[in-house]
Amino acid sequence: MINGETSIYGILGCPVRSSLSPKMHNAAFAYHKLNSVYVPLLVESGGQNSIIKAFNTLNIKGANITVPYKSSLFEQLDSIDPYAKKINSINTLIKTNQGWAGFSTDGVGFIQALTELKIDIANTSFLMIGAGGAGKAIAFALCEAGAQRLYIKNRTTSKADELIDNLRGNSWLVDRYSPTNNNFQVLINTTSVGMDATSLSADDEMIRKAKVVIDIIYSPEMTPLLVKAKAAGKIIQNGLPMLINQARESFYIWTGKMISSEVLRKAILH
Ligand code: ATR
Repeated sequence: MINGETSIYGILGCPVRSSLSPKMHNAAFAYHKLNSVYVPLLVESGGQNSIIKAFNTLNIKGANITVPYKSSLFEQLDSIDPYAKKINSINTLIKTNQGWAGFSTDGVGFIQALTELKIDIANTSFLMIGAGGAGKAIAFALCEAGAQRLYIKNRTTSKADELIDNLRGNSWLVDRYSPTNNNFQVLINTTSVGMDATSLSADDEMIRKAKVVIDIIYSPEMTPLLVKAKAAGKIIQNGLPMLINQARESFYIWTGKMISSEVLRKAILH
């Protein structure tokens, strides 16, 4: 029950209307019987420069950050997690005794979703499609997790090359994808292609070569890529496990408590 002592958390972005995070985090607060609430925090353009000031004024305890502000708040924070710095993206804020701290839980969310598929990352090679914000978060996480190899393919090849150059500081096992390459087991779509439920983000050859096909899109639940991959007998995963696991990590940062994926999954589906 909300009362005078309820702590406020929320998701800040524009738009935030269709976010599933309020459902997940309110279910997690209820599960742990915490006197906290999670609300949408719509900030229209121009408002991003005073966000931390507004949070302090309103005694907000923590937040998720989504599009288009994931890279806008760095200067307002007191500390930034090294992984978030590397990918230039923050999705979780917490107010601490030392001020506001920023993290990105997208990468760890993706890696945990991979472990649900029992993938042995160190002995697996990946082909990732896309080199935008989500692609960058996933590519750095895969390199840090010790992936055997990572190939990257993007519509704009210069963006893929730039990401590859940045990753090579970490790992030389990153390269451009070429169609002659057969040496990957997991195909990952990190682009928005497929959200329209009609466009296909990977070609037939890529699907044929993969054993596992992952799409980080969760709406629609089955993108054309996943439909094709399933029909071809591949192991598939959509974006829900990543979404749920990044939320579990944010919740842990705020509360120090674990929440099961099942609680969050149920909250989304009801
Ligand atoms: P996000 O932060 O969600 O990753 P983004 O940074 O805008 O969003 O990146 C979108 C990704 O989807 C990019 O890799 C983009 O390719 P480009 O770098 O060539 O723009 C990719 N993408 C978006 N629409 C696409 C389309 N119609 N065909 C192929 N790739 C597309």
